[in-house]
Amino acid sequence: MTDRLLELLAQHPNEYVSGEQLSQHLSISRTAVWKQINRLRAKGYEFDAVPKLGYRLLQQPTRLDEKLLLSKLRTTSFGRQLRILWKTESTQNEATAWLLSGAKEGAVVIAEEQTGGRGRRGRNWHSPAGKGIWMSVVLQPSMPLQFTPHLTLLTAVAICRAIKKMHPVEVGIKWPNDLLVNERKVCGILLESQAEDERLLSVIAGIGISANLSADDYPPELREIATSLSEVTGHGWDRAQLIAELLFEFEQLYHLYEEQGFGPIRSLWEAQSITIGRMVSVDTPHGVVTGIAQSLDESGALVLLGQDGCYRKVFSGDVHFA
Ligand code: BTN
Repeated sequence: MTDRLLELLAQHPNEYVSGEQLSQHLSISRTAVWKQINRLRAKGYEFDAVPKLGYRLLQQPTRLDEKLLLSKLRTTSFGRQLRILWKTESTQNEATAWLLSGAKEGAVVIAEEQTGGRGRRGRNWHSPAGKGIWMSVVLQPSMPLQFTPHLTLLTAVAICRAIKKMHPVEVGIKWPNDLLVNERKVCGILLESQAEDERLLSVIAGIGISANLSADDYPPELREIATSLSEVTGHGWDRAQLIAELLFEFEQLYHLYEEQGFGPIRSLWEAQSITIGRMVSVDTPHGVVTGIAQSLDESGALVLLGQDGCYRKVFSGDVHFA
């Protein structure tokens, strides 16, 4: 039914087709037409609906295509094992299950839509269909468990570099791993580790990039604090190209880290940071800590200089700019 409806609207590009015409052609009621339109909207199609005129197809969702994405990759292992799903609860769950059944380092799971996307600190991650990059990467690093925060910072640098490679966007990192443009969030990162007897076995790096969401795609509570790459640049983003750039940067930095440790990653992170030098208050599990953000220490903790002249380190938490 939805296919026939789309066919009819596509036959009239730039024209409105009335609800009456559609209901006659499809032999369904006008309410049923409206329901089908809403079903398509949830899949990323965009329509203009005007009373008395009818419906006009504005935009079709561009579905990520596995072959096309593979053809764009310039990596050795990242993304070479690839699963693209239409809809799933969370790509983190899919990647974890795949790891248990044989996924190798660099395996990637992408979903067009997540019904239970997870964010940091138990939050939900809004992941509407066809609009963003909702992706998890399997990592099997040989490093002590306590250094996993390095990977979060490394991932943020990789995404920042990939975005800037595609377009000169003023994107910066808010410690530890939020990417902001004009003080609004465009990307979040969630690392989930599996360990045994204090030994790190694997890490699933979850990446959520709001690529092509418009203001209407956000629930009201996110509208003021989130934005998308398309909103800030005024044009749609080629998601496959951005994923390919991102996996390339990610793999390069991951190897750099394996070879040279955290030093070079720390410098790159500080260069992309919008946190260093600013007065911040950090909501940590042990209370709020305020001060001017100075640097990262060797573990990836944020070093703050308080008004009392004392330096304090924060290891996890949410940063708020004063
Ligand atoms: C945050 O900023 O709180 C982290 C958001 C991480 C979202 C991504 S989307 C792909 C992957 N799957 C999930 O369920 N979460 C991560």
